[in-house]
Amino acid sequence: MPHALLAPVLGLLGRWHGLGRGEYPTIDGPFSYAQEVTFSHDGRPFLRYEARAWLLDADGAPLRPSARESGWWRLQPEGRVEALITQPTGIAEIAVGSADGTAVDLATHEVALAPTAKQVDATRRGYALAEDGTLTFVHELAAVGRPLQHHLSARLRRI
Ligand code: HEM
Repeated sequence: MPHALLAPVLGLLGRWHGLGRGEYPTIDGPFSYAQEVTFSHDGRPFLRYEARAWLLDADGAPLRPSARESGWWRLQPEGRVEALITQPTGIAEIAVGSADGTAVDLATHEVALAPTAKQVDATRRGYALAEDGTLTFVHELAAVGRPLQHHLSARLRRI
């Protein structure tokens, strides 16, 4: 039986897969990628979160593994969310925001960087569940001296 505080995120549970596009002014792009995202729980009021991505070539075939991250989304009263997310690139984020059953919005509370990590100042992550079952993901990034702006958008389906 899931904890009552999980109610605003129960629609996200499971494994999602889909395609996205990414860009940033400091990198070659735009690029296409495939993404897989998993949300699970053990009944307590937090989600286990895991995401991985693969860059795709012009024909949609995988080129190489790209970003990965995993962490925990701690659910608080009134749909508030505190997320702890780490990446193999040396970036650890704490993001805060809210969930309302169909949408989640998370923005940086703090970023900690490993000594050799790229500079990341802030991120914003939006998830929106549509009635047709599509999960839309949008990610904004303030990094390497640039202000917060679009880095990724993807449309995912449950698998
Ligand atoms: C689906 C997830 C993601 C994909 C497919 C992706 C893709 C990319 C790609 C292709 C690059 C260019 C360098 C390279 O080829 O590795 C890049 C750079 C970068 N990404 Fe992402 N990314 C993702 C998620 C993230 C997240 C969550 C963050 C930060 C929290 C992030 C921060 C950065 C930074 C800081 C750079 C370096 C920019 C620079 O050196 O100028 N990315 N990303």
